[in-house]
Amino acid sequence: MTLFAGADELAQKLEQLFSERGDVAVRETTKSWLFLTSDRVFKLKKPVHDSFQDLSSLRARHDNTLNEIDLNRRIAPDLYLGAVRVGRRRDGQVVLDDKSAETVDWLVHMRRLPADQILKDRIIDGDGEAELGPSIDKVADKLCAFYAQAPKSWLTPFEILTLREDQLGIARNVLMDPKFSVLRRRVDRVLCAIGGLIETCAQRAEAGFAEHILECHGDLRPEHVCLTEPPVIFDCLEFSRPLRLADPFSEVVFLGMECDMLGAGWIKPRLIAALETGLGMSANAERLRFYEAWHAVVRARLCFAHLLVPRPRTPEKWAPIGERYLVRAEELVV
Ligand SMILES: Nc1ncnc2c1ncn2[C@@H]1O[C@H](COP(=O)(O)OP(=O)(O)O)[C@@H](O)[C@H]1O
Ligand SMILES: [Mg+2]
Repeated sequence: MTLFAGADELAQKLEQLFSERGDVAVRETTKSWLFLTSDRVFKLKKPVHDSFQDLSSLRARHDNTLNEIDLNRRIAPDLYLGAVRVGRRRDGQVVLDDKSAETVDWLVHMRRLPADQILKDRIIDGDGEAELGPSIDKVADKLCAFYAQAPKSWLTPFEILTLREDQLGIARNVLMDPKFSVLRRRVDRVLCAIGGLIETCAQRAEAGFAEHILECHGDLRPEHVCLTEPPVIFDCLEFSRPLRLADPFSEVVFLGMECDMLGAGWIKPRLIAALETGLGMSANAERLRFYEAWHAVVRARLCFAHLLVPRPRTPEKWAPIGERYLVRAEELVV
């Protein structure tokens, strides 16, 4: 992943600009900076360039910002307030919403959610089924309503499977990097097992594999779920429609697996049962196992990929988490 020069400087100037208006907390993720004020959040996307997206141009960042807002409003219409123009005056001063200055970037403008209600934090804080159960049911209801109106895909089962194969190839490239040679045999075994499952589906042209494919959220994780009343689900995968295409059960298994990794193993079965009722479909246990192994491998790839960039931000963090995802995939398919 390449990050273009000048981005850090803009983030610093924005921090200064927001701090002149009041208290601001800054949060940096792999792909963005977030400026959190008392009741609003402004998100600046980093000008990253990797194998999935190229945000090096202003036009691409503008498109990306609008896509993020548009797509997230499908499920969180009140959270996303709009796009804010970032300008730079001739003297270098950074200004917001000023068309007379040169536009240099865009911000996603959101309401601020209560940090202590984010599902990930509630689990880490030790809340269990007794405290969170009813809220999880409301999250499931919200998801069912979202999936009920989600557009379907016109891709054939075969085309959907090629997408999965392509992703598996990317995982192989990262995880088989010479840097991770100690993992080689294990990675190969897991990827072959998953590849075999995909192959079997392709041979059977298993329509069921693709018939429930909808345009979903794409990044349904506990840090993107806020247990307010009603719950809010945000930060969907915005940069590729094909990567948002999934069986709703696959997304929910992903959320369940992530909660399980944080110590809340009860959430996955509860979500699946709620989805079965809400969507009037029964889940296939074999397919759920495949979906979970699939997500575990994708997450392992993302973790280890952090170690392949020139100056990783928190290098010590990634190998142990990546290892846990790999173990999870092994438990499921090897
Ligand atoms: N509107 C918001 N209110 C409160 N916290 C937020 C808000 N938006 C993001 N966050 C917190 O910051 C984290 C990173 O923001 P996110 O939109 O997920 O960025 P990225 O696209 O880089 O993953 C989120 O997981 C969430 O915990
Ligand atoms: Mg996020």
